[in-house]
Amino acid sequence: MSASITNSVASFSGLFGLEPKLPKLAPSPYFWMPPSASVTTENTDALYNFMLWMSLFFSVAIFWAMVRFCVKYRAKSRAANEIAAKTSQHNTMLELTWSVIPLFVVVPLFVGGFKGFVNLRTPPKAAMEIRATGQKWKWLFTYDGLGTPDDALHVPVNTAVRMIINSVDVIHSLYIPSFRTKMDAVPGRYTDLWFKATQTGEFPIFCAEYCGTSHSDMLSRVVVHPPGGYEKWLAATIAQADSLTGKDRGAMLYEKQGCSTCHSIDGTPKVGPSWKAIYGKMESMTGGPAMKVDENYLRESMLDPQAHIVMGYAPAMPTFEGKLSDKDIDGLIDFIKSLK
Ligand code: CUA
Repeated sequence: MSASITNSVASFSGLFGLEPKLPKLAPSPYFWMPPSASVTTENTDALYNFMLWMSLFFSVAIFWAMVRFCVKYRAKSRAANEIAAKTSQHNTMLELTWSVIPLFVVVPLFVGGFKGFVNLRTPPKAAMEIRATGQKWKWLFTYDGLGTPDDALHVPVNTAVRMIINSVDVIHSLYIPSFRTKMDAVPGRYTDLWFKATQTGEFPIFCAEYCGTSHSDMLSRVVVHPPGGYEKWLAATIAQADSLTGKDRGAMLYEKQGCSTCHSIDGTPKVGPSWKAIYGKMESMTGGPAMKVDENYLRESMLDPQAHIVMGYAPAMPTFEGKLSDKDIDGLIDFIKSLK
């Protein structure tokens, strides 16, 4: 069912000439929920359904009683209404009933909720670790020291995975609906969440914290590989990423490191200046003399972006110190030079 919701979102975007960016979902057995694809989702869904049906039952019961009483006890005339009839002050049985019944509703909710919370907040010791970094407006996933070869998150099925999450700019939130889990990405500290995928396929990832202009485009997906598939994917990706040099490496990093979010390559100014024909140009700087965009300026802009800001742009770029090797920086410079 949610696959058809996604499709209708996609066709809506089509109507407005927007590229449908949502991934193709695995089919869901539920009417209004995405598929449930991690070990902790069963408890979450059970509690959710319990609250949903309880709320529905009591809403209907209360509204039914309201309407019924309005009709049944409607004042026959103003005079009749003014004579207060004899009313009972106390009814022990009634009071016990309305205390004991809710107890049977809220105590299981508390016990189930507390157990589920502890479970969700305690990653298994043997969990494999993957880093997720939020930045305006892209998720970067890093595997065991490997850069970011793909903008999707790749994980093996039936394996506990602990995501270590941080942010380089503002607060984002890593949200994987099919795993029923979500955690804020906060600049200057690490947070985590864990899951163990029970189903192979692709599931969407959202940013669930309003983080600026392109918040709603901060979409990604998690690819759950069948047994053995993850290792194959990782080996192939490492081999491919290592073999690229020069402007090809730059072009790969332009997408993977999220440069494309703020720098166009067709001359359109975005959050930052376009890279088209920027190499060799004289640029006016905010609060300083004009500078020529050469290799050293480009390198400095990646590692210490606030040092010299091109006039007319906000100092919005995070540093890529530690995220780009010298080979990466050379590649990006070659890529920028190639954009004539
Ligand atoms: Cu990142 Cu919203």
